[in-house]
Amino acid sequence: NEIKVFCPATVANVSCGFDVLGVALDSVGDEMIVRKVPQKGIKITKLTGQDLPKETLNNVAGVAGNAFLLASDYDGGFEIEIDKRIKPGSGIGSSAASSAGAVWAMNHLLGNPFSKTELVKFAMEGERLASDVAHADNVAPALFGGFTLVRSYSPLDIIDIPAPSELYVTIIHPQIEIKTSDSRKILKTTISMETGIKQWGNVGGLVAGLFKQDYDLIGRSLEDHIVEPIRSILIPGFDEVKKVSLEAGALGSGISGSGPSIFAFSKWEETAIKVGDAMKTVYDKIGIDYEIHVSKIN
Ligand code: HSE
Repeated sequence: NEIKVFCPATVANVSCGFDVLGVALDSVGDEMIVRKVPQKGIKITKLTGQDLPKETLNNVAGVAGNAFLLASDYDGGFEIEIDKRIKPGSGIGSSAASSAGAVWAMNHLLGNPFSKTELVKFAMEGERLASDVAHADNVAPALFGGFTLVRSYSPLDIIDIPAPSELYVTIIHPQIEIKTSDSRKILKTTISMETGIKQWGNVGGLVAGLFKQDYDLIGRSLEDHIVEPIRSILIPGFDEVKKVSLEAGALGSGISGSGPSIFAFSKWEETAIKVGDAMKTVYDKIGIDYEIHVSKIN
């Protein structure tokens, strides 16, 4: 009647795939305990780690959980305890981890009545609360694991993509907060045909590279001609972090989700650690605190 789940952090967009590509991290995430109770509705009974609202309608796990309950014929409810380790506004899917973790656990406790894609739909309601837009590129990888592509939002069509066996991600989180809702407002709503051609070439290249386990192709495809040029202005040291990452051997690098975290992919763990050391030097010089994570991609 109770389950403890690991709710992974995620890197959305993965440079070229704004709102459609995402990947789950193996070793960074929240923990959550979900309990089946006879009382109807969702109650967040404990929330540690971060200062976030516990009221069901103001908490992404509560809102995602309500969407789940509404679609379910179960007539009881759930209690949730959240140990939040991912900082909100860090760009590694903090809200998605809670939304996805809650609905995954509830589904499990009821004997899995819903498919993963249906769970993505419920978890997207948590994202709507957090960022004003119900994007799926964090909750999909959090629920499916590994890389996912949102091929279509309407109807929702999620494709899981295999990851090559030696792919690692390094994430540096400079300790500033950027709200996804704010960093979406500054984006342009139209692109030129020329930009589109470059962008979908890279999306196709990245997906092909993952399937073919072609690390160089993956690296070449980590380019974003639409969002990164605008958002990177909000992230101190961005160009420098990217430059030193590539010099240290990374395949490619970009903004993680809506930032300020920056990610880099590497072949081999050793390289990913070296990339992290190189990234650190940039923020040591500027004088901004940071957290760094290295994670395998499964
Ligand atoms: N695709 C979303 C964005 C991800 O970039 O706004 C937010 O984590």
